[in-house]
Amino acid sequence: MMFDKEYVAADEGLSARVRDLIDCYQTGKGLSGDFYRNPEIYQLELDRLFRRHWHCVAHESLLPNANDFELFKMAGETVIISRDETGQIHAMLNLCRHKGAEVCTELRGNARSFTCPYHAWSYGSDGALKTARLMPAGFDRAGHGLHKLAVRVVEGLIFISFAKKPLNFNEAEALVRGTCGQYGWTDAKVAHRETYAIDANWKLAIENYVECYHCGPAHPEYSELHVLEQPLEEIDALNDAMKLRTLALGVDVTECSPWETSAQGREAIRSYRYALYDGIKTGSKDGMPVAPLMGKFAGYDGGVTSLHFGGMTYMAVYPDHGVIYRFVPTGVNACEMELIWLVNKTAVEGVDYELDRLTWLWRLTSEQDKKIIEHTARGVASHYYTPGPIAPMEAQTQRYISWYLAELAHPCP
Ligand code: FES
Ligand SMILES: [Fe+2]
Repeated sequence: MMFDKEYVAADEGLSARVRDLIDCYQTGKGLSGDFYRNPEIYQLELDRLFRRHWHCVAHESLLPNANDFELFKMAGETVIISRDETGQIHAMLNLCRHKGAEVCTELRGNARSFTCPYHAWSYGSDGALKTARLMPAGFDRAGHGLHKLAVRVVEGLIFISFAKKPLNFNEAEALVRGTCGQYGWTDAKVAHRETYAIDANWKLAIENYVECYHCGPAHPEYSELHVLEQPLEEIDALNDAMKLRTLALGVDVTECSPWETSAQGREAIRSYRYALYDGIKTGSKDGMPVAPLMGKFAGYDGGVTSLHFGGMTYMAVYPDHGVIYRFVPTGVNACEMELIWLVNKTAVEGVDYELDRLTWLWRLTSEQDKKIIEHTARGVASHYYTPGPIAPMEAQTQRYISWYLAELAHPCP
């Protein structure tokens, strides 16, 4: 999908400099260097991408018990994700409604209440203000609970949105159910997490994730397993053969890619299933299973589903395990890439799966990616950098850049 550029002139909320940068973008080329280093652009991204779109922050198996909580940092904010006494999941901003101090000072744990370290107002695990010391009679406690964010839990995945009026989530939910859902992600558990700090603007990390032009040279191990390292027309026959195997197993492979801009009011999501090379069952060193099958299917189709969600979350759905990629900007020139590995919740480490075998492929690939992203960041920082052509195998990069520019230009309601 291409995006109409006429929206730019209509937005009075953009400075002349930012408008120029967006207007001067040439389809078919990468973004100019300013997009990776201009603090004004970065602030605009926080408003128009990170505080507008939904994010997948975790799998609820991380919070199995009442009053479990964990902190997530995102877009300059800290969010407490907690499970209340009744089992419901909440997302709350970690700032006291009195003078704004952080009320939760532990990264994760179990707490019936969060007591502010400053003047000791105390909030329940559902965010309600329970006590406020020495405040006058008649003080409105109910009106001073922690700020709540929108939360949806779908197939065990916790999604949050900072937006006052969140983007419509219905199509996204249906597609998550149709992909992760049929592979049993509701009944999954987190087997491992790893965070990679990357010295690069967040867009360099995502542009790298969405294209496989670099897979051949940068990821020889991935490329021995996944056909995506080749041009699309070269892999049609392999994908067609996979589809027959997929359908024979009863897996629904309805193509569904309603990748929208927020101007349409709906969350962006797309998915596709693609083949592994003949004889490869999953993304592992020897191509053999690394954990028990997930979902309801009786075998392996030799494929993997890739899911792109809301611009910042990506997922890989193998028959025996899943991988969630979260991209989190931490500054203009820095971001984090968190990987979360999922297996069936009944699987036992050391018996049904070995962590080294389970995580080998995407650890290695992520370490390789960190290096090439940082090489790129150093090059793009040069005064002499000019964007080059987008290669045919980088069609997803073009799609992402066009979408990103449309989001940047579209004012928040
Ligand atoms: S800032 Fe939290 S009680 Fe005062
Ligand atoms: Fe990569």
